[in-house]
Amino acid sequence: MAIYVDEQTRTFYLESKNTTYAFCANPFGFLQHIYFGKRIAREDLSYGVFLNARGHGSHIPHGNWMQSLNQYSNECPTFGRSDYRESAVALDFDGVRVFDWQYVGYTILKTKPPLEGMPSVRGKDTLVVSMRDERTGAAIDLSYTVFDDVPVILRHAVIRNGGKKPFTVDRAYSFCLDLPDADWQAVTLYGAHTRERFMQRADLKRGVFSVDSKRGVTSGQMNPFAAFVRKNTDENTGEAYGVNLVYSGDFVLKAQIEESDTVRVLGGINDYDFSWRLEPDQTFTTPEAVLVYAEHGLGEMSRAFHDLYRAYLINPRYVRAPRPVVLNSWEAAYFDFDEKKLLEIIDATAKTGVDTFVLDDGWFGARNGDNAGLGDWVVNTQKLPRGLTPLIERTHERGLKFGLWFEPEMVNPDSDLFRAHPDWAIHVDGLEPCPGRNQLVLDLTRDEVCDYIVGAVSKVLRENAIDYVKWDMNRCLTENYSAHLGARGKETHHRYVLGLYKICERIVNGFPHIFFEGCAGGGCRFDPAMLYYFPQIWTSDNSDAYWRTVIQYGTSLCYPVSAMSCHVSDCPNHQCGRVTPFSSRGDIAHLGATGYEFDPTRMSAEEIAAMHGQIAAYKDMQDLVLNGDLYRLHDPLDGNLFAFELVSKDGDRAHITVMRSLCLPNDKCLRLFPRGLDENATYFIPETGVEKAGSTLMYYGLIVNIPFGDFTTATYTLLRR
Ligand code: GLA
Repeated sequence: MAIYVDEQTRTFYLESKNTTYAFCANPFGFLQHIYFGKRIAREDLSYGVFLNARGHGSHIPHGNWMQSLNQYSNECPTFGRSDYRESAVALDFDGVRVFDWQYVGYTILKTKPPLEGMPSVRGKDTLVVSMRDERTGAAIDLSYTVFDDVPVILRHAVIRNGGKKPFTVDRAYSFCLDLPDADWQAVTLYGAHTRERFMQRADLKRGVFSVDSKRGVTSGQMNPFAAFVRKNTDENTGEAYGVNLVYSGDFVLKAQIEESDTVRVLGGINDYDFSWRLEPDQTFTTPEAVLVYAEHGLGEMSRAFHDLYRAYLINPRYVRAPRPVVLNSWEAAYFDFDEKKLLEIIDATAKTGVDTFVLDDGWFGARNGDNAGLGDWVVNTQKLPRGLTPLIERTHERGLKFGLWFEPEMVNPDSDLFRAHPDWAIHVDGLEPCPGRNQLVLDLTRDEVCDYIVGAVSKVLRENAIDYVKWDMNRCLTENYSAHLGARGKETHHRYVLGLYKICERIVNGFPHIFFEGCAGGGCRFDPAMLYYFPQIWTSDNSDAYWRTVIQYGTSLCYPVSAMSCHVSDCPNHQCGRVTPFSSRGDIAHLGATGYEFDPTRMSAEEIAAMHGQIAAYKDMQDLVLNGDLYRLHDPLDGNLFAFELVSKDGDRAHITVMRSLCLPNDKCLRLFPRGLDENATYFIPETGVEKAGSTLMYYGLIVNIPFGDFTTATYTLLRR
């Protein structure tokens, strides 16, 4: 049984694969957190609370002066009743912001209901624990889902106005997790456009550490992910708690150390510029938080996220199916094409071995550059007088699938849509809006705007035989306001995200035969909620093979490699001018959903032949990309090497990719230590002809020989004999 309740002590035990999560409704009536970690016996845990007589504080009414909420771990801390640390929920009831939350009961569900209006992880055993404030009728339901097969707890909260007067929700975080001591480091993912999700690791100090976004999207600057690890935690040893929010808008994740020298981890929707008015009988649902506990390092933590997302989040229709190998037109032609040029590219693409041709930006409205056309989802007849049909027909005749680019959430001021509905762009009357890439953001808080987008995009998808869509989003939000919300302007960003989910539901689910890839100016909206709609996301506009090792390394901390769209692009690289071998670009792009991004009409016969070889090699290893376990063998920012290993769940096969950044003459012997093999099995390595035991390879090591030159790669296949 995954959820067990001791009615006498009012203790809840959530037993996941190898983990226990325990909390209780204590004698004071609040939900006291007890434990999250390696599986322990199900027994009375009340002895574990350490109360200390700390002066200059306050305590619970009728309690002794050690019984301050500041001393307890709490599942849902609130402010104003003797806990001075960060709170998870803040409500304003006519100016009164103090509540007395008391446990009222629990329900156990056999199937987890979906979250209202938001994507969430599918699950079974779910515990819902309710608290109520008698005076106002306000209530909070905390939801916990537990799994047999992954060391994961899902959490979210529903705030309910069960009273007679409206109130305002000023903060509604998804979870709070109090860790028992202060010796933790935070691992987070930071970056920018073209350098998304670099890994950062830092000691937690006293005070509040936080990562957040105020940009309306999760952003490339900070990802809604954090891990809390011991100083000695590495890829294979040491504790790691991972947190990831299933959300695509403004978020915050915090870790606070206060007087008790424990860490309070909490987060959810960023409350920096947020509030939500709740009328009687209405509810507010927070996004879902995914909590992972790993006893054996960051690698184990990542594999838990990957397993969860592949089994329970990403669309089952696509998650394990071979992905389309695309050739995308963006770096092949940018905006500069006409029908003749595209037909030539399609003909050349058909000779390369890829299976899908994707027509990127530039095919619609007056889109001859990035300053016009967004919002007008009708063909650009100046470039394509005969429409899309001849292109689609040619693509299909050549045996390829046809993909098309959209940026549904945006509008250029120079567009028919904007001329007809200038008020549909997010703005504040009387203020010139801040443009980004010459475009404004459509106000998805308005139903008529969402209806327009769904109608216009669906019309193109209905009237054309399209197999694949790339859904882009190329700027962050500004002017957090929508006139129709009036005084409720602080609801704008969250309502934008809810509008986005509504249009994704309608378009993505409306065309189940179409494969949708996500994108946001490269990888600036790479989060689990987007993965719910898009089985893969364009990882970064930076397609340089070296920088991609860094970006893919960081991204893999919580997202499976199959979620990362990775293309081989032209040389010198369009983002940083680096020249890397074609084989290196292929090997790195194979560690994800692979594809190509250049003009095939300009490729030499040798390069086309090499492409065929690369695609065949990818198809041979694709099962590992889709279903395998990832082991990060070497961090590219820690020295001169990058190495990833993918191992099949049964240990029968593994694939290792290694890149050496700079060739070092007279270099040392380069030895890698593969993981996840069967110690007692023998593995054959066709690339070297060597046959060795799993134990030998894992502990004595695999000697790698990397070709001469900079940014060269080597790959090894390990096959169980
Ligand atoms: C973004 C995407 C690119 C490309 C361009 C088109 O930058 O990340 O892949 O689609 O937009 O404008």
